[in-house]
Amino acid sequence: MDILELIKGRRSIRKYKSDPVSDEALETVLEAVRWSPSWANTQCWEIVVVKDPKEKSELAGTLPNGNPAVSSMMNAPIVLVLCGIKGVSGYYKGQAATDKGDWLMFDVGMAMQNLCLAAHGLGLGTVVIGMFNHRKVAEILGVPRNLEVMVMTPLGYPATPGRAPKRKEVPSFVSYERFRG
Ligand SMILES: Cc1cc2nc3c(=O)[nH]c(=O)nc-3n(C[C@H](O)[C@H](O)[C@H](O)COP(=O)(O)O)c2cc1C
Repeated sequence: MDILELIKGRRSIRKYKSDPVSDEALETVLEAVRWSPSWANTQCWEIVVVKDPKEKSELAGTLPNGNPAVSSMMNAPIVLVLCGIKGVSGYYKGQAATDKGDWLMFDVGMAMQNLCLAAHGLGLGTVVIGMFNHRKVAEILGVPRNLEVMVMTPLGYPATPGRAPKRKEVPSFVSYERFRG
């Protein structure tokens, strides 16, 4: 598939079939994470693969009621939780190399985008979920304190295709030579 077609065709999927996802498809999606760019190739990501229905439902319980992705966490056969190792990305000799501090959120974000695109290429759906109780998820999964839980996504076959929310036009966010006044 053409790369722009793949990027434009990916949607946040919040309704899933219960059909299983093969180990091979899961491995392909994880392989896409492996080849993500990262600060000085530090690869600070860690992923927890959750298939157990009880555990998925516990994770779904960490989303606030208004989060439109709650039911997708239970319906999809797999939930992937992406974490980042703290104090690695963005650091040089133990010191933050920029005024941005830890770049783990950035690197995990890039990994998530690769994951979502690879999944979409296989006909699988994802939705990046950031609004949940991160501390509770860390407790449920036993994530050590030197890691930050960042985002989750269900992984499964879409029950209905997602609808594309409107995008800003390119000229509205691009400047040339100097930032527009
Ligand atoms: C960092 C981040 C956090 C998000 N958190 C949630 C969330 O908690 N719940 C949800 O339903 N969607 C969440 N989304 C999905 C966005 O709502 C979605 O990407 C956006 O509306 C654009 O739609 P599209 O992905 O179909 O292009 C999140 C997306 C990002 C990038």
